[in-house]
Amino acid sequence: MAPITSILLTGLSLASHTLAVRLLGTHFSGQIFTYELALNNATSGALSITTNTTGCGVTPTWLHFDEATRIVYCIDESWQGSGVLTQWTLGAKGLSLNASAATPGNSVHGSTYGGKDGRSFLVTSEYSPSTLTNYKLPITASSKPIQTLQFTQAAPGPRPDRQDKPHPHSAFTDPTGAFLIVPDLGADLTRIFKINKDTGVLTACPAISSLPGDGPRHGLFNKIGYGQLKYYSLNEVSSSVGVYDVIYPSSDGDCLSLKLGQTISNYGPSVPLGNVSVKSAEIRIVGDSLYASNRNDSSFGFEQDSIATFKIGSTGALTFVELANSYSYYPRSFSFNKAGTYVAIGGQTTANIAIVARDTKTGKLGKLVANLLVPPRGTYGGEDGISSIIWDEPEKRHN
Ligand SMILES: *[C@@H]1O[C@H](CO)[C@@H](O)[C@H](O)[C@H]1NC(C)=O
Ligand SMILES: *[C@@H]1O[C@H](CO)[C@@H](O)[C@H](O)[C@H]1NC(C)=O
Ligand SMILES: *[C@@H]1O[C@H](CO)[C@@H](O)[C@H](O)[C@H]1NC(C)=O
Ligand SMILES: *[C@@H]1O[C@H](CO)[C@@H](O)[C@H](O)[C@H]1NC(C)=O
Ligand SMILES: *[C@@H]1O[C@H](CO)[C@@H](O)[C@H](O)[C@H]1NC(C)=O
Repeated sequence: MAPITSILLTGLSLASHTLAVRLLGTHFSGQIFTYELALNNATSGALSITTNTTGCGVTPTWLHFDEATRIVYCIDESWQGSGVLTQWTLGAKGLSLNASAATPGNSVHGSTYGGKDGRSFLVTSEYSPSTLTNYKLPITASSKPIQTLQFTQAAPGPRPDRQDKPHPHSAFTDPTGAFLIVPDLGADLTRIFKINKDTGVLTACPAISSLPGDGPRHGLFNKIGYGQLKYYSLNEVSSSVGVYDVIYPSSDGDCLSLKLGQTISNYGPSVPLGNVSVKSAEIRIVGDSLYASNRNDSSFGFEQDSIATFKIGSTGALTFVELANSYSYYPRSFSFNKAGTYVAIGGQTTANIAIVARDTKTGKLGKLVANLLVPPRGTYGGEDGISSIIWDEPEKRHN
């Protein structure tokens, strides 16, 4: 009888309620918000703020959300010579602070690694001090770095205004959790480290060069075809995506390596790489579609920047599909819901969250479903406004 009851309840709840989903994100002004998206139907809804809190320093920039443990780590981009690293727990009523540690500041990204389940340590990337810093978890008020790895380069890169020195922009593990990948925007490198899962200690492997002037910022691993792994690099400075083969070592203790096979502009294969006015920001993959956001291209009119859409072929190679409207200016952050039916876009300067529908058959982004302004607005070209947006979709419990 249980299945019939479930069907009846599902029918009732669909009839009497709109569907509500939670999101969370940071604002460079110091706030961390939770949001609720209430959908009337597939293409119309309303987004509203449900909670707001502070405590992630003066410039919250990035959240690492561990869905299974409900722990949220918040990274502070403060460039004032000091910052904080905070650990929160996400409950029904929003975020509650577990602990906050002092840091040297200017961290732009953070993620967990190591231990048995990839949750024992946290690594942060510092943009202008050109460092990579790691901490043992949980965060406490007296947390101190395990290591502070300092990067240097002999001379500025091809874009000296952006590439004056190394600028590590993110750090995350490969799918096995044995290696750490660190895109370096200043040095045109994807740095690779071996992870000691017990101590959290990182040991440098040979770094992999991008094309000169690419300025790698973020990246993703993705399985294609018969389970073969590829690595996709979002290159902020050249506004392009690099596609790399992933080469695992034949014996334990050796290094992971990457081999660049394709670089394609976010504006398609016929457009030369590197437009000085555009700063690409985020990369995401859903199914066989890859998306890359472009800040400051105004492709869809005043304060309407684009998100490039690519198809991932059976060999992992990318084919440019089209540019889609991000309904925002400076789309710094965007992420998809689990079903791949919506993308939430964080417009940095316009300080808005746009929810845009995604066609699950074609992968194309389409209609603006909901839009919320979250003041204060950013300033032109400034490091202010909305910094990040992610979804919170806990697995549903079945009785
Ligand atoms: C979705 O809801 C909106 C607002 O209630 C309405 O204007 C629109 O016609 C609806 N669309 C569909 C396809 O039902
Ligand atoms: C933040 O929360 C406080 C109550 O805790 C509320 O008064 C304020 O309006 C909220 N701000 C925003 C932007 O939602
Ligand atoms: C964090 O705070 C939550 C909520 O107060 C609490 O349930 C949890 O035990 C805390 N976790 C840690 C690791 O301190
Ligand atoms: C650079 O991007 C801007 C904004 O999209 C565009 O107007 C301009 O034509 C591009 N320049 C080149 C050299 O592609
Ligand atoms: C934005 O693009 C315009 C050209 O379209 C350029 O003049 C300007 O410097 C760019 N601004 C920033 C902040 O990148």
